[in-house]
Amino acid sequence: MRYGTIIGTLLLIFIGGCATTGTTGSETAVAPAEPARVYSTVGDPGKLNSEQPTVFITGANRGIGLEFVRQFSERGWNIIATARNPGSSTELLALADGYPRLIVEELDVTDHERIDGLALKYAATPVDILLSNAGITPRYKSAFAKVEGVDWDMALQSYEVNAMAPLKLAQSFMDLVAASDTKKIVVISSKAGSFELSPEMPMMYSYRASKAALNMYMYALSFETVKRGITVTLLSPGQVNTTPGFKMKGAIEPEESVSKMLAVIDGLTPENNGQFLDYEDGRVLGW
Ligand SMILES: NC(=O)c1ccc[n+]([C@@H]2O[C@H](COP(=O)([O-])OP(=O)(O)OC[C@H]3O[C@@H](n4cnc5c(N)ncnc54)[C@H](OP(=O)(O)O)[C@@H]3O)[C@@H](O)[C@H]2O)c1
Repeated sequence: MRYGTIIGTLLLIFIGGCATTGTTGSETAVAPAEPARVYSTVGDPGKLNSEQPTVFITGANRGIGLEFVRQFSERGWNIIATARNPGSSTELLALADGYPRLIVEELDVTDHERIDGLALKYAATPVDILLSNAGITPRYKSAFAKVEGVDWDMALQSYEVNAMAPLKLAQSFMDLVAASDTKKIVVISSKAGSFELSPEMPMMYSYRASKAALNMYMYALSFETVKRGITVTLLSPGQVNTTPGFKMKGAIEPEESVSKMLAVIDGLTPENNGQFLDYEDGRVLGW
C-alpha cells in the first residue's frame, strides 16, 4: 500500500471516530458507564459435588418447582434453583439452609443476559437435567375471559415466559447439558396447549397459545438436540394444587405430580426426544 493511501485511510478512521464520539480531537467524551446489575446468589457454588449429577430448575420458589427441589435434594443431587426474588423465597431458602448442594440464583427468565451470565458462571458444571418449569399460569384476572377480555400485556408476557424462555435457556445451556452424562432437557408444558386435549371452551387464550408455541419450539429443537445426544421432552404435570389455600376438584398434590414426573424423567431415552408425555405413566400425548 502506498504512503498516501495509508495516511488517507488513517485520516478516514480518525474522522469516523470523531463522528461517532462527537469529539473534535481536543476533548474525549466518555459515556457514563451503566452500573453493572448485581444479582443475588444464596449458597456456595463451590459446594457442588462433581460426583453427583446436577439439575438446573427455573421457578423453584413455589409450587411444582419447589417440590422438584425438595425431591432432587432427597436424591442428593446438586441443585441450581432459580427464582425471581430469592430474598422472599422463604421455603426455598429454608431448604438451602439444610442442604449445601442447593444454590439459589436470582433469575427472571425473561432476562436473556442473566441466562447467558448463569451459563457462563456454571460453564464448568455439566448440567444433567435442564428443567424449565417457570410459567405464567392462568391465575390472573382476565385468564378466563372471552375474546373481548383478552389482556394483550399478559398475552405478551405469557409468550415470553412460557414459550421463549425455555428456548433461550436451551440455547444458552446446550453445551452444559451436552457435557453431562444424562443429557436431558425437560420442559413443563400443559395439556391446555394441545389442540387435541385442551378444553373445548373459549378461555385461557394466552396460556393455551403460549404453551402451544412452547410445544412447537421444543419439537423444532429436538432436530438439533438429537445431533448432540440430548433428549428434549415436554411433560404435562397433571392438574396440580399449587394455589395456596385453594384445592381444585380432582387435582393432585405437587408431591404426587413431581414423584411421578421424576419416574418418567428417569426413564427417558433418546426415543422420547421431541415428545410430549404425561406425568402419570409417560404415555405420549397428542399435540
Ligand atoms: N398447577 C397445574 O395444575 C399445572 C397444570 C399444567 C401445567 N402446569 C405448568 O407447571 C409449571 C409450574 O406450575 P405451578 O402450578 O407450580 O405454577 P405457580 O405456582 O403459578 O408458580 C409459577 C412459578 O413460575 C415462576 N415465574 C413466573 N414468571 C416468571 C419469570 N418471569 N421469571 C422467573 N420465574 C417466573 C413463579 O415465580 P414468582 O413466585 O416470582 O411469581 C413461580 O415460581 C408451569 O409451567 C405451569 O404452566 C401447571
